[in-house]
Amino acid sequence: MAKRRLLSVNKIGHDKDIFRHKTEMGKTKVRMTTLKLREQKRAPLASKYDIAKYDMRQGYQFPSELNQLIPSNTPEYVDMENKYVERIMRAIYHFKQCALVGPSGTGKTHIVYLVAELAGLPMWEINCGLQTSVYDLFGRYIGLGKGNWIDGQIVSWCRQGGILYLDEANMMRQDVATRLNPILDTRGHLVLNEKDNEIIPRHPQGYLIASMNPFSAEFAGTKPLNAAFRRRLTVWINFDYLSVGEKIAQREIDLVVTKGKVDEQTATRIVKVGAELRRQYKSGDLPYGPSIGDLVNWAVLSSEGIPSPQAAEETIISMTSDNEELQEVVRRVITGVFTSL
Ligand SMILES: Nc1ncnc2c1ncn2[C@@H]1O[C@H](COP(=O)(O)OP(=O)(O)OP(=O)(O)O)[C@@H](O)[C@H]1O
Ligand SMILES: [Mg+2]
Repeated sequence: MAKRRLLSVNKIGHDKDIFRHKTEMGKTKVRMTTLKLREQKRAPLASKYDIAKYDMRQGYQFPSELNQLIPSNTPEYVDMENKYVERIMRAIYHFKQCALVGPSGTGKTHIVYLVAELAGLPMWEINCGLQTSVYDLFGRYIGLGKGNWIDGQIVSWCRQGGILYLDEANMMRQDVATRLNPILDTRGHLVLNEKDNEIIPRHPQGYLIASMNPFSAEFAGTKPLNAAFRRRLTVWINFDYLSVGEKIAQREIDLVVTKGKVDEQTATRIVKVGAELRRQYKSGDLPYGPSIGDLVNWAVLSSEGIPSPQAAEETIISMTSDNEELQEVVRRVITGVFTSL
């Protein structure tokens, strides 16, 4: 094969993310754009998840400095018959905003990254459970002088577009939720009290996804979502584990085999344990239900030749709780599954 040599990479234009790669392949000069390469990577995935019809950018070209906010190489997401990717895309395409509700570890954060990557949208992520200051969210003056204003995350999203991802949205402070209300309804703008009440219209490609754990006694610290905010979110998508209780998903076993590098039988047992622990978590008997990522980590240690029940001590057992009695409950589930097959 002819040897390829990169001759130069030139940025063309100010706002456009078009870089001209001039390469030499034998005697032929090849030109291509990174933008095109990204599109080429996206296309097969878009058809895999059946979302090619939702053009979220609608011809709009984001400024190149926002490219670093577009996620890339998001790991595979096992969607199965739930079609979460398609449902989220459809919701934000039509209504600009939606909410994802589900227990911890069901892949809500993961899927938002995937959606942003597939749609080619910059992502502004805010964890509402952390006490992020109003300055960081809306902006502030630095130093003296009116010219020294810096936009916060929410204001940047409002001006520049992309996906505003509000993780743990039900933990959001009341004053922040109230300020988001006008942007989510027909007014479609944000009022910046801090800056002479500047009115910032919502960018036409400004989408919002909120995620949260269901409000119930078992989820420590969760509270019901503010009613005014809830009403504005339009579409609510419920998430659940791939396998739970008696329902065991072959796709989850396959993922544990490939990512955890264990044989099918070990993977099946690991998933069965996970499914039972999740059942107990959902019924309030355990404080945590393992995600597929947790099961993969357990499998990775097992693949090193450590017996699975022993590898579980350092992963799934200690992760569930510090409490000795609860750890014993998990141990019994593991012993049950690993001796019954
Ligand atoms: N359907 C899935 N396909 C592939 N990986 C998944 C899937 N669901 C969950 N995971 C993996 O499980 C782990 C937990 O997922 P994630 O952090 O997205 O959960 P979450 O719903 O956001 O949880 P929390 O409510 O605690 O924030 C990650 O490693 C993620 O990649
Ligand atoms: Mg999350």
